[in-house]
Amino acid sequence: KTDKPAEAKSLLNKSNSQNKIVKSISKANGNSERAQPLFQAPPGCESLFDEEGNLAPDLQALGLDPKLVESVSHEIMENQPKVTWDDICGLDFQKERIKECVVWPLLRPDIFTGLRNPPKGVLLFGPPGTGKTLIAKGTFSHLSIITDNSLHISLTQFFNNKKKAIANQAGRKFFAISASSLTSRWFGEAEKLVKTLFAVARHFEPAIIFIDEIGLAFYSLLSQRKEGDFEASRRLKTEFLVQMDGAQTQKESRILVIGATNRPQELDEAARRRLVRKLYVPLQKKRKCWMHIVHKYVYSPDRNGRLQMLRMLLKKSKHEISESEMETVVSLTDGYSAADIETLVIEAAMGPLRSVSNIAVLKKKKKMLSVKRYKSFSFFCSFEFFQTVSSDEVRSIIMEDFEKSLTNIKPSVSEKELVAYVEWNAKYGSSAL
Ligand SMILES: Nc1ncnc2c1ncn2[C@@H]1O[C@H](COP(=O)(O)OP(=O)(O)OP(=O)(O)O)[C@@H](O)[C@H]1O
Ligand SMILES: [Mg+2]
Repeated sequence: KTDKPAEAKSLLNKSNSQNKIVKSISKANGNSERAQPLFQAPPGCESLFDEEGNLAPDLQALGLDPKLVESVSHEIMENQPKVTWDDICGLDFQKERIKECVVWPLLRPDIFTGLRNPPKGVLLFGPPGTGKTLIAKGTFSHLSIITDNSLHISLTQFFNNKKKAIANQAGRKFFAISASSLTSRWFGEAEKLVKTLFAVARHFEPAIIFIDEIGLAFYSLLSQRKEGDFEASRRLKTEFLVQMDGAQTQKESRILVIGATNRPQELDEAARRRLVRKLYVPLQKKRKCWMHIVHKYVYSPDRNGRLQMLRMLLKKSKHEISESEMETVVSLTDGYSAADIETLVIEAAMGPLRSVSNIAVLKKKKKMLSVKRYKSFSFFCSFEFFQTVSSDEVRSIIMEDFEKSLTNIKPSVSEKELVAYVEWNAKYGSSAL
């Protein structure tokens, strides 16, 4: 611990090039470099570097590696596609909770103080394909839309009358970092990366750090064979816990960590404790079931959620599915996750295309082939004919396509697995659904 400040000092005393990101590049390129700007920070991250590529003074003082800072700045969710709350079907309870413990406190820190202090860590857990990543993206989009809104900023100005707070509101940044970039790209330096991540987040405060597949990031690596890997992974986890504690103890700090996982059982108690609010993202809603003696409920996509998803997805294509047929599909998809429903609809949407190529093949080959042979032949011929088909010739999606699709696409999560999530939720979860 004692040599850490010394290390930072010596870093500062070293030549300025240590804090520069492009010096070596511009030198290597010689004179031709002159016409171009020396350094271009990623959009929205200009305040991290000056135009020569030097780190901002507050980051310099921490002795951070400029390359890592740049790498982190590329993870910022600036240019991601926007996900609105309406794009997330069902999950009303989860959306409300997220607004309550993430969105509101970040927007109105003056109200969320004292006992209402927001949690510094939130965990989204649940079976694969239920919308955890989608909820995190929705949260980011929602916050950036609100903060882009000048009306909101002027209202805040009115209420708070604090210039600094307003500057913060406008300069809000959100981060998303995936397990793969933490562990594989920077594996040897993952510990340093975590430190950099939190430092940059503090620079932009208030900020959200989103770690997808959090279990994977910290724990599956423990099973790596090499001794060195085990050490690196342990150090990464320790650094993460230390940084989270740092964010927790500074009362003013407005950094929130959102983790998502479909393997909550792999989190140990240290990580569990820091991710205070644990929100179950189930297969949409509860369904009464007596199959398990202890737990009376398993979670299954509720009818409304599935119907909502079907409507939303079918809007994107020409179809002739009536409301009552949609109801039929809904009743046949009990136990399907949202991602399964998506796959099902995509598969059904392929139906008309397949029949287009069939028709085309049939048209051309009718004289040469018997109907029996055409079936096996169609695969080889279809692309050629496909190019000649106009988009009007593609028929609408019909119920028959769904019938075929239902025979191919099955639920990806078993009831047994669902029970494990329900048990974990009953033990540690924050929502007593
Ligand atoms: N509630 C939902 N409403 C609309 N679409 C959804 C919903 N849940 C999932 N999807 C769709 O399913 C796909 C997978 O969702 P997402 O990536 O959020 O799942 P996840 O819970 O993060 O899964 P994993 O645990 O495997 O990471 C996305 O493409 C998304 O469009
Ligand atoms: Mg995910």
